[in-house]
Amino acid sequence: MARVFIRCSLRLTQITSVLLCLRFDQEKITMMMRAAVGLCVLSAVICVGRGHHHLGHSVDKTVQDTVADGSANSVSLVNEANKEFSFRLYRKLAAHASSQAKNIFFSPASVSTALAALSVGAQGETHRQLFSGLGFNGSLLTQTDVAQAFQMFLQRANNTSQEDANEGTAVFVDNNFKPKPEFLQTLKQSYFADGFNVDFAKTKESADTINKYVEEKTNGKIDKLVELLDPNTVMCLISYIYYKGKWATQFDPRLTKQGDFNVDENTKVPAVMMNREDRFHTYHDHELKTTVLQLPFNSSYSMLLMLPDVMATLENAISPNHVTKWLKAMGRSNHDVYIPKFSIKTSYNLNDVLAGMGMTDMFSGGANLRGISEEHGLAVSDIVHQATLDVDEAGAEASAVTGIFVGFSAVLDPVPVLKFNRPFMVIITERNTEKILFMGKIINPTV
Ligand SMILES: *[C@@H]1O[C@H](CO)[C@@H](O)[C@H](O)[C@H]1NC(C)=O
Ligand SMILES: *[C@@H]1O[C@H](CO)[C@@H](O)[C@H](O)[C@H]1NC(C)=O
Ligand SMILES: *[C@@H]1O[C@H](CO)[C@@H](O)[C@H](O)[C@H]1NC(C)=O
Ligand SMILES: *[C@@H]1O[C@H](CO)[C@@H](O)[C@H](O)[C@H]1NC(C)=O
Repeated sequence: MARVFIRCSLRLTQITSVLLCLRFDQEKITMMMRAAVGLCVLSAVICVGRGHHHLGHSVDKTVQDTVADGSANSVSLVNEANKEFSFRLYRKLAAHASSQAKNIFFSPASVSTALAALSVGAQGETHRQLFSGLGFNGSLLTQTDVAQAFQMFLQRANNTSQEDANEGTAVFVDNNFKPKPEFLQTLKQSYFADGFNVDFAKTKESADTINKYVEEKTNGKIDKLVELLDPNTVMCLISYIYYKGKWATQFDPRLTKQGDFNVDENTKVPAVMMNREDRFHTYHDHELKTTVLQLPFNSSYSMLLMLPDVMATLENAISPNHVTKWLKAMGRSNHDVYIPKFSIKTSYNLNDVLAGMGMTDMFSGGANLRGISEEHGLAVSDIVHQATLDVDEAGAEASAVTGIFVGFSAVLDPVPVLKFNRPFMVIITERNTEKILFMGKIINPTV
């Protein structure tokens, strides 16, 4: 039997790196020393196509509601699973041939939201693989538990910071394809999915429709997620995250200087280094031989920057427990901190990586997406993911006007220097829930 399924041939274009934070901050030029900002945008797309084969796969049962635990408990189980998933996905991405010697940056939260939304329509082995791949224990969590947990996460994301964080999903459905109403209902109710009908036979127009939506949701940061859609596509699921934050304490742009970044022992590249001497939250993890710096945003979010002696030691071991420990144990002390200004963009096709995490069936002719439709041959054609991160100053000219330098008090003790001038890891997290919005590794800030 032929294992035919449709590829929707998504082609991604690079995002032109618009520094939105610049625009934002220039509106407030009265402020001095206004340094920014993490600006991250991301989107994950799952496209489902209709295959031509038909086969009677085993009869599938939906996941049984074996345990009716309190919803608070299941929310925390899903939260824990999402955190674990972040690091597993990171390691798979980092190990992938296409990631060698490259910066890595992605949003685990967006990927898990997209896959969880897909799991609403998956059954049988395909569903089991999705749950297991996401780290949801099927004997402790039902599909409903998971949906409720994501409902809460998405609401919370919407709640915490109005314009700075934007997280959501959408589903684009072909005019001639009729998904089960229950599927769309759950997407709408628990994943707050915006629903659209499109004519996927009109490949250009439907791609434009999707791109326009994504552009709007990401404040223009991603304006061409999809270039070419296969006319046989019947449905696309999108999950997006947009985050923009201002540092709680800013960097003085006048202290920003050219410096070197040591890509490896033999390679130096010129980088623009921001500098601040201040009391910082830091922690030295002896086990991982890594120094961790927390840069809080002016919100409940923080960026964690991790500078390891040996990247592999950190990469291979880092876990949610480390993040918890660091956030708890961090102490504040004076440091002279140097961080590159950087702007990176990434684009991934996650098919291999997710298959490598055990989620294989959804891509195959044997995919069971009967929760979406009884039509045989539905399968996921591509899962693509795109992210950008800009760490920068904004309103630098305005700061030049004020003439205020950080006052160097007559401190006698030498202040330890913390220079992120060699490969480091980065995480953007919400401090209360420790939800990992974004995660990555900066090997070379200049590419
Ligand atoms: C799922 O939970 C059950 C009950 O707590 C446990 O026995 C089982 O080992 C768990 N499975 C996995 C894969 O963690
Ligand atoms: C988030 O807020 C916007 C604007 O208030 C609203 O349109 C959207 O439905 C909300 N989403 C969620 C998940 O609450
Ligand atoms: C969101 O905010 C509203 C009002 O501020 C509150 O009632 C609600 O519980 C919050 N939802 C979540 C999930 O935090
Ligand atoms: C931080 O946020 C508070 C309240 O949201 C605001 O009043 C303050 O101006 C902000 N500070 C900076 C540096 O943006």
